Amino acid sequence: MDHFTYKNGELYAEDLPVATIAKEVGTPCYIYSTATLERHYKVFSGAFDGSNALVCFAVKANSNLAVLKTLANLGAGADVVSGGELQRALAAGIPASKIVFSGVGKRPWEMETALKAGIHQFNVESEPEIRVLSEVASRLGMEAPVAFRVNPDVDAKTHAKISTGKAENKFGVPWQDVSRIYREAAALPGIKIQGVDVHIGSQLTDLDPFNNAFKRVRELVEDLRREGHDITQVDLGGGLGIPYDGTIPPSPASYGAVAIEAMGNMGVQLIFEPGRLIVGNAGILVSEVIYVKQGAERKFIILDAAMNDLIRPAMYDGYHHIDTILEPSSESIRELADVVGPVCETGDTFARGRELPPVEAGDLVAFRSAGAYGAVMASTYNTRPLVPEVLVNKDQFEVIRKRPSLDEMLELDTIPTWLDNGK
Ligand code: LLP
Repeated sequence: MDHFTYKNGELYAEDLPVATIAKEVGTPCYIYSTATLERHYKVFSGAFDGSNALVCFAVKANSNLAVLKTLANLGAGADVVSGGELQRALAAGIPASKIVFSGVGKRPWEMETALKAGIHQFNVESEPEIRVLSEVASRLGMEAPVAFRVNPDVDAKTHAKISTGKAENKFGVPWQDVSRIYREAAALPGIKIQGVDVHIGSQLTDLDPFNNAFKRVRELVEDLRREGHDITQVDLGGGLGIPYDGTIPPSPASYGAVAIEAMGNMGVQLIFEPGRLIVGNAGILVSEVIYVKQGAERKFIILDAAMNDLIRPAMYDGYHHIDTILEPSSESIRELADVVGPVCETGDTFARGRELPPVEAGDLVAFRSAGAYGAVMASTYNTRPLVPEVLVNKDQFEVIRKRPSLDEMLELDTIPTWLDNGK
C-alpha cells in the first residue's frame, strides 16, 4: 500500500496534488512519501517483533539523507557498500552500532573509517579481503567484527543481473571453502569472527529460494559452532520483491515466518538488509510529455524524463506502471504507445506498446514504484542534470536534493593548460 492516490480527479502524494509539486520543482522529479516509507519500514520490522532482529536498510536502494533520516527516526540500521554510503548513514543519524558493511571490493580507507566509527559488522566476501581487514585492524590496534558472506549456490529465480547467490556469481565465499576460510580467519590478528551472511538476489517473488538458502545457512551455523566458532549473528540479506506489474510477491510476514522457522531458535541476532521493499513503492518519478509523435509504425510518447533518470527499464527490462496525473475516466479509451525519453539511443525506452489514456504535450505522468534504484542510479548522460528529489509529509513538501544548474555541471570540467592558451 502507498500514499499516491487519485483525489478530486488528480494524483496526490499524501495530501498534496502531484501537479502542484511538479509546477514548483519542475520536471522530471522524484517524489517520495514519508507515510509510505514509515508504513513499509513498520510492516517489515513488524514481521520480526520479539525476535531480536536488526533491520539494516540497504542504502544503495535510496541514499538520500532525508530518506535515511526518516528511517533512522524509526530505529533502522543500515547496510552500506562504500565509504560514501557509510558517511551518508552516519550523517543521517544511524548509529554505527546498527551499520553493516557489505560489498566485494572494500578498500583499506573504507575499512579504517568503518572501524573507527565502530560499525556492527563487516560482511567479508573473500580471502584477500579478510587479510587486508586484518592488517588494517591490527595497525589501528582494533578488532574487526566479521561475518563471511557465503555463496549458497541457490537460484534466486530473478533477473540474471540481480541474482547473486549462484556459484558462478562474484559474491560470497565458495560453499566448499567456508570451513577452511573461517578456521584461517579466526587465527588472524585483529579479526573477531561473529557471524554468517547471505544475500541471494533482489526482487525475489518466490519464498522457495529464501527457504533453501536459509536452511543451508542454519546447517552451516551448526557446523561452524561444532568447529568452535562463536556465531552470534546471522545476516539473511535483502531481496524481497515488490509488486511492479500486478504480480503480488509474498508478504513480509510470510517471508519473516520462513526466516524465523529456519533460524529462530538458534540463539543468534538476525540481521536483514531490505532495500526495495522499504522505498520502492514510496517513490514516483514525475515527467512531462514533450511531444506525441506518430511514427511510421508506432505512436511515441516522448517525455522529459529519460533513461539517465530511471535506468531500470533499459537495464533490467524493468516494468514501471505509468499513471497520468489527471485521473482517466473509466470510460476513457486506451491507446497503445511506446513511452520514450529524449536521450539519443533506442534503449531510452520506458515501455513498448503500453496501454495509456490519450495524452498530449504538457500533460504530466508518473512512473510508479520508482523510489528504489531510481535516483541513486541516475546519471548526467546527454548532459542532463541529475534529477531532483522531493519529500512529502502530509501537506508539506521540501526539495531534498536540488537539480544542479548547467553551469554547476560544466564547472566540474576543466580545460587543460595546453588547450587553454590563456585565451
Ligand atoms: N544486501 C545486499 C548485499 C545487496 O547486494 C542488496 C542489493 C540488498 C541487500 C538489497 O536488496 P533489495 O532488498 O533491495 O532487493 N539495481 C537493481 C537492484 C540491485 C540490487 C543490488 N543489491 C534494480 O534496480 O533492480
